Amino acid sequence: MKPQPVKLNIKFLKLSKMAVVRYSQKAIQRAAKIIKRGGSVAFPTETVYGLGANALDKKAVRKIFRVKGRPLDNPVIVHIAEVKDLSKLAKNIPKEAKILARKFWPGPLTLVLFKKKIVPKEVTAGTNTVAIRMPKNKIALELIKTTNVPIAAPSANLAGRPSPTTAKHVFDDLGEKIDLILDGGKTKIGVESTVVDLTSKPPQILRPGGIHFEELKKVLKDVKLHSSLLGKKLKGKAKSPGMKYRHYAPRAPLILFNEKEIIKKIQNLIKKYQKQGKKVGVLASDETKKFYRDADLVLSPGSRKNLKRVAQNLFETLRKFDKKKIDMILAETFPEKGIGFAVMHRLKKAAGRINARAKNKFGTE
Ligand code: TXA
Ligand code: MG
Repeated sequence: MKPQPVKLNIKFLKLSKMAVVRYSQKAIQRAAKIIKRGGSVAFPTETVYGLGANALDKKAVRKIFRVKGRPLDNPVIVHIAEVKDLSKLAKNIPKEAKILARKFWPGPLTLVLFKKKIVPKEVTAGTNTVAIRMPKNKIALELIKTTNVPIAAPSANLAGRPSPTTAKHVFDDLGEKIDLILDGGKTKIGVESTVVDLTSKPPQILRPGGIHFEELKKVLKDVKLHSSLLGKKLKGKAKSPGMKYRHYAPRAPLILFNEKEIIKKIQNLIKKYQKQGKKVGVLASDETKKFYRDADLVLSPGSRKNLKRVAQNLFETLRKFDKKKIDMILAETFPEKGIGFAVMHRLKKAAGRINARAKNKFGTE
């Protein structure tokens, strides 16, 4: 028999440069070693996957900015595993911060505090504050404890793209550019942590997320939403630098519709854009997806009555439109209560590309 030529499995070779590993004690040891050596490891949290590096190692932190293509003026969150580590990184900690940490940590809440010298300016983008959180995820907590250093971690996506909620999303965006991906399955919450600035009085919510405004108001006497979250235009320097960029965005332009006659409007636009030769996708809800059968792709992140599910599936849904090469996404709005507020914040940001044609309060058609 003639010997068969050896076929190289290119896909395997590509994958083998960087590993995706499931949770095990050994995997955590390996990840911790990489971080201590100055490398980067993607890991799951309860919100989205993060791209972690030793927060006290400038060079390692610079590398995660580079890998993501993140603007240098957008600081990253430092992840800790024990409340006592807060005072190693931050100073002048107000009592409100301690109350919030006690109540919501581990959990999807990030506290912005005045930084101590030990935190490099690379982490905080040159500001005098540092954002800190304790994630509620076994893998994340074990990783932080095993490395025994605070871990700086932005979401593990390319800058501007929807945050990753599975290890596969991380691989799709960052592939071999990082040293290791710890696969912990799909993340529970699906949108990022709530960022609260405790250096201003009263404390301000800079980014809505997994802990709702309503929950914070129950614990803090006085807390407000940053003006940018009230539909006002940003003036001057952004408080949380992440606010000024288009974010969470699929590649296709996304148009967000408000509640009035939403179905009819979307149905008409499906036809209009298809006539222009475009592949049209609709981001609907379980209740409404049946109305858009003419569209090229209809996806629902969940029921309007289950906003937690909508949040959990939101970023994955946005990524699916890209996979199917959709040219235009027509998206429904969701109720802005509870986690729905964070869902709508992400959708409005994703719609940012077409803000110039603003017609309603969402800056969309
Ligand atoms: O749930 C999350 O927060 C995830 C997981 C991985 O922990 N992380 C995350 O990181 O979403 P990132 O880098 O995608 O978003 C961090 C947000 C940005 O809006 C950034 O501007 C803000 O936190 N931020 C970080 N440091 C800050 C600081 N010192 N002052 C104000 N805002 C800050
Ligand atoms: Mg991010």
